Amino acid sequence: MEDNTIPTAPGGKRIVFTGGSGKAGRHVIPYLLAQGHKVLNLDLMPFPDPSADVYTLKCDLTQSGQVFNALTSHFNMSGYLNDGLPQPPDVVIHFAAYARNMLVPDNECFQGNVASTYNVIEAACKLGVRKIIIASSETTYGVCFAQGDANYHSFPLEEDYDVDPEDSYALSKICGERTARTFARRYDVDIYALRIGNVIEPHEYERDFPGYLSAPRTRKRNAWSYIDARDLGQMCDLAIKKSGLGFQVFNATNDTITVHGTTKDFLAKEYPEIKITREMGEYEAPLSNRKMREVLGYKDVHGWRKYVKS
Ligand SMILES: NC(=O)c1ccc[n+]([C@@H]2O[C@H](COP(=O)([O-])OP(=O)(O)OC[C@H]3O[C@@H](n4cnc5c(N)ncnc54)[C@H](O)[C@@H]3O)[C@@H](O)[C@H]2O)c1
Repeated sequence: MEDNTIPTAPGGKRIVFTGGSGKAGRHVIPYLLAQGHKVLNLDLMPFPDPSADVYTLKCDLTQSGQVFNALTSHFNMSGYLNDGLPQPPDVVIHFAAYARNMLVPDNECFQGNVASTYNVIEAACKLGVRKIIIASSETTYGVCFAQGDANYHSFPLEEDYDVDPEDSYALSKICGERTARTFARRYDVDIYALRIGNVIEPHEYERDFPGYLSAPRTRKRNAWSYIDARDLGQMCDLAIKKSGLGFQVFNATNDTITVHGTTKDFLAKEYPEIKITREMGEYEAPLSNRKMREVLGYKDVHGWRKYVKS
C-alpha cells in the first residue's frame, strides 16, 4: 500500500470514513478513492475487498477515547516511513451505525447510534476538522418503521418536512441531525446530514426490482425511492467539494420513482388523500433529491431503468 498521509491527486482529501465495511461504504469508498481521495476506514469489521487501497482500523465508535485517538492515526502502516506525525483528516464521513431496528434491542440501537454520532462529531470538531458528513435516513419521515399502515403528511418529501417518526432507529437519526446542528453552530464548521434512501447495490436491481414494480404498495415504506450505492459515492464527493453551508440536511436518493408510469398518476390513483405541495417532475422520486441536484450539482448516473428489463 502506498503512503497516503498526503493526498496525491489535486483536490484529493484525507478522509476518515466510519462504517466503510458495510453495505453502503463498500461502494462509496471505492468511488472516493477513484476521485483521488485517501481513506482510512474505522469499523468493527474488515473491509470486504482486501485488494482495495483502504486500511481498516478496528475502532468502537461508542467509545469516545477510541474515536479521538483514531482521528489522529496514520492512514496505513506506511505512515511510519515519513517524518511527519499523523494529523487529523480533512474530512470525516460517518456512516457506521446499527442500520435499522431489530438488529439489537431498541434501547441499544438508540444509545449506540446516538453515542457514536456524538463521539465522531465532537472529536472531529475539537480536532479542527472543517467538513463532516453524516448518514441520516429516509426513516425520519415517519412511515418506514411505523406500526401498521401510516401515511406521509404530504408529497414530495423534502428537507423542511416535519419529521415525526415513532421508532427508536429513526429517533436516533434525528438526534444525530440535532447533534450535527449544535456542533456546526458552535464550531462554525460544515456538517451535512444525508437522509439516505433505501441503498441498492448493483446486484440488487435484477433480483429485487421486478418485485418492487409488480407490487408498488410494498414500497410505500421507502416512498418508492432508493439510492444507488455508487451514486451515494458521488453525493459524498460533491458534499466534500461544496463548502461554507454550515449545517445542512440533504435527501440522498436517485431521481426517479420506482413504479411504472408517472409520479402524478401513481400518487393520484393510489394516494389521492395525501396533499401534493408543489408541481413534481414527471418521474420525480417522492423522496425528492431536488436540493441535492440544485445545491450540490448531483447528476443521476445509475437510474434503475438502466438495469431493469421492463
Ligand atoms: N442501507 C440502507 O438502506 C440505509 C438507508 C438509510 C440510511 N442508512 C444509513 O446509512 C449508513 C450505512 O448503512 P449500511 O447499510 O452500509 O449499514 P451496514 O450495517 O451495512 O454497515 C454499518 C457498518 O457500521 C459498522 N459499525 C456499527 N457499529 C459500529 C461501532 N460501534 N463502531 C464501529 N463500527 C461500527 C458495522 O460493522 C458495519 O460495517 C448507516 O448509518 C445507516 O443507518 C442506510
